[in-house]
Amino acid sequence: MDAFPHRSLLDIEGLTRPDVERILDTAEAFLQVSRRPVRKVPTLRGKTVINLFYEASTRTRTSFELAGKRLSADVINMSVSASSVRKGETLQDTCRTLEAMHPDVIVIRHNASGAPSYVASKIGCSVINAGDGMHAHPTQALLDAFTIRHEKGTLDDLVVTIVGDIAHSRVARSNAHLLNLFGCEVRVVGPRTLLPPAVDALGVRVFDRLKEALDGADVVMVLRIQQERLGRALLPSLREYARTFGIGPVALAYAKPDAIVMHPGPMNRGIEIEPIVADGERSVVLQQVEAGVAVRMALLYLCAGETSEAPAVGEVD
Ligand code: NCD
Repeated sequence: MDAFPHRSLLDIEGLTRPDVERILDTAEAFLQVSRRPVRKVPTLRGKTVINLFYEASTRTRTSFELAGKRLSADVINMSVSASSVRKGETLQDTCRTLEAMHPDVIVIRHNASGAPSYVASKIGCSVINAGDGMHAHPTQALLDAFTIRHEKGTLDDLVVTIVGDIAHSRVARSNAHLLNLFGCEVRVVGPRTLLPPAVDALGVRVFDRLKEALDGADVVMVLRIQQERLGRALLPSLREYARTFGIGPVALAYAKPDAIVMHPGPMNRGIEIEPIVADGERSVVLQQVEAGVAVRMALLYLCAGETSEAPAVGEVD
């Protein structure tokens, strides 16, 4: 098979549909590794992955760490709050310092949009964007696509409704770009104040009301209200938001009877999603988490492990 054409993953716009399919197919093989009693393969032995997280994270950081370790890479987690960043070191100096230690991959999450591409332009190793400001979260979109493909059997031509704080969501942006590659109808719905100014440029249909937005939906993707990014009062009351846009059984009944419910986490239970839906049988939130490890294994392998072929499904020993 041809070498994967990308050393870094900065956003979904840099990927073609065959690239996405290659990543998801590779992740299928790695999903099996996580389900075995011995959850480790030697694929990235001798490689080094540095996780550099400038923002809080549970799922993304842990799954990158597990992904690296399950591939036998050496994984270093830099705790930014305990590093020289606190002493005023610039991002460029931090990266050049880390680069002098010869990592193969730097995984970076940063509150500034564009930080991962800045880093990639300054240093030679692979860079994977683990979420930058309000710009992109490509690994989340890929794990969401993996989950949808598993649950629905296809990614083609589905109706996917993204609900909530679209304006501040790098998850919504990356998902819209990815789903458009597969001909999906991507809908967004939420308060007007939480829609980005150039929302049409995302290739989505905009709705004001849940009922219409969810009518015929195959996938309901619920987003967290990003209270840390709201800045000023874009939302008069969380209680009113929950009443108007929260996903509970009543709202879910507008979607197709077999619609799945997704959430990237962390969830604000009782605000954007009711617990009965979050924990209900149509929720695939934990499947998304499991997919996250497999997809990140695939990305580490494809971006940094060019020396050996990816194992075929069922042949991961
Ligand atoms: C998302 C993020 O950090 O962008 N979370 C995640 O990576 N699982 C979404 C969020 O914070 O709401």
